[in-house]
Amino acid sequence: MTGTNDLGVFGLAVMGANLARNAARNGYKVAVFNRNTARTKALIEEHGHEGALEGAESIERFVASLVKPRAIILMVKAGKPVDEVMAELAPHLDQGDILIDAGNSLFNDTERRSREMAGKGLRFVGMGVSGGEEGALNGPSIMPGGDAEAFGRIEPFVMKMAAKVDGEPCCAHIGPGGAGHYVKMVHNGIEYADMQLIAETYDLLKSVYGMEAWAIADVFAGWQKGPLNSYLIDITIEVLRKIDDATGKALVDVILDEAEQKGTGRWTAQSALELGVPITAITEAVFARGLSGRREQRQAASGLYEDVKTATRAPDEAALADLQAALYASKIVAYAQGFEQLAGASKAYDWNLDLGTLAKIWRGGCIIRAGFLDRIREVYRDARSEHLLLTDYFAKEIARSVPGWRRVVALAVETGTPVPAFGSCLAYFDGIRRARGPANLLQGQRDYFGAHTYRRLDRDGSFHTRWGQDGSEISA
Ligand code: 6PG
Repeated sequence: MTGTNDLGVFGLAVMGANLARNAARNGYKVAVFNRNTARTKALIEEHGHEGALEGAESIERFVASLVKPRAIILMVKAGKPVDEVMAELAPHLDQGDILIDAGNSLFNDTERRSREMAGKGLRFVGMGVSGGEEGALNGPSIMPGGDAEAFGRIEPFVMKMAAKVDGEPCCAHIGPGGAGHYVKMVHNGIEYADMQLIAETYDLLKSVYGMEAWAIADVFAGWQKGPLNSYLIDITIEVLRKIDDATGKALVDVILDEAEQKGTGRWTAQSALELGVPITAITEAVFARGLSGRREQRQAASGLYEDVKTATRAPDEAALADLQAALYASKIVAYAQGFEQLAGASKAYDWNLDLGTLAKIWRGGCIIRAGFLDRIREVYRDARSEHLLLTDYFAKEIARSVPGWRRVVALAVETGTPVPAFGSCLAYFDGIRRARGPANLLQGQRDYFGAHTYRRLDRDGSFHTRWGQDGSEISA
């Protein structure tokens, strides 16, 4: 039996409900299902007038109401719930039907699920969706991966549902298997780094310069006119300006300083470690969240060690310009690292990712959206290198920012203000810009204690030295 609904949405928490409303508002007939039928009813009652939304009370009816080959978006919690829902749906599906996992699933799970589905004659799309609740409703950035034919079937509606920048949809078929979820994962990793860099800037303005939240908001607002202009800075300004009704203080000053996380940043770092790609900014951002969570340790240690902060003083224009430069240069490094990871994963997994397209579809809808991504897209149009720091445009931008960037990191060190992201980005930059680093010594040490061999600058081949000063073998 075939139905008339174009699309199904399974899971009607806010993200699922908003995606369903988005599709319905774009003229599609959407069947919606939630295990708790009260939620389905509430969605239809509150938003049924927005478009063709049809609530189903059983899985059988839900599936039967869809046009074939069926396309069903799953918006359930990542992990086991996705497998459970897939197992529940599979017996009701027919050959060629498509399940679309729109949650933040781990890409390896997506690869496994694609294989399992293919074994049953079903098709699977692992689809990254970014933009939070508001984006899901009004236009997110959409990163579908998996079977290209299956993508062809869902292409018309995902393209319509996606955010648009200059008339271009923020959606593209990313690649096979888990490519879509991988790209979404790295998007989130970059999001972690970007947020951490903004938080470090806030910390310096607050802790070193003694500025109030509203005044810090004004500084960020000034920067919105320049290359830092972004959604994340935008929401930072809003957060800093919000007053707590209960206390009359800036709300940010009464929020507990422990950052939570759901895992995508950690997965990004884990994958980078496996691929051997040095993404220091993202990884430091994950660690910074970890340290923030050790509140008891921090409180105990704060009584143990003297604060090294110098007397607070208002920042002059030059100090603010330095901070802006540090934030901008570090952001370039963080994105350069994220894109290098994407290039590395693309090679390792044979995904043929188009980095310029990724920058293009992140320009709107998603959490890291910014004019900055337009620059990255332009750079990839004719770049000789996949590494942003090796492109003319960003090399110039970084060069301009370096003096201020160094002064900010030095100030942070002098005043005991932790800047793991600023500091690691600068260290990475200093590491990559030197043709000869100190790893020659590491190689000597490795060969000394383990006969691991080393290569030479002046001759080809692998060498081992008897490191004893008398020419004897150390490891013997
Ligand atoms: C997005 C967001 C979204 C989610 C974050 C939060 O792109 O829309 O990234 O996916 O809100 O992943 O992640 P944490 O809870 O780990 O900070």
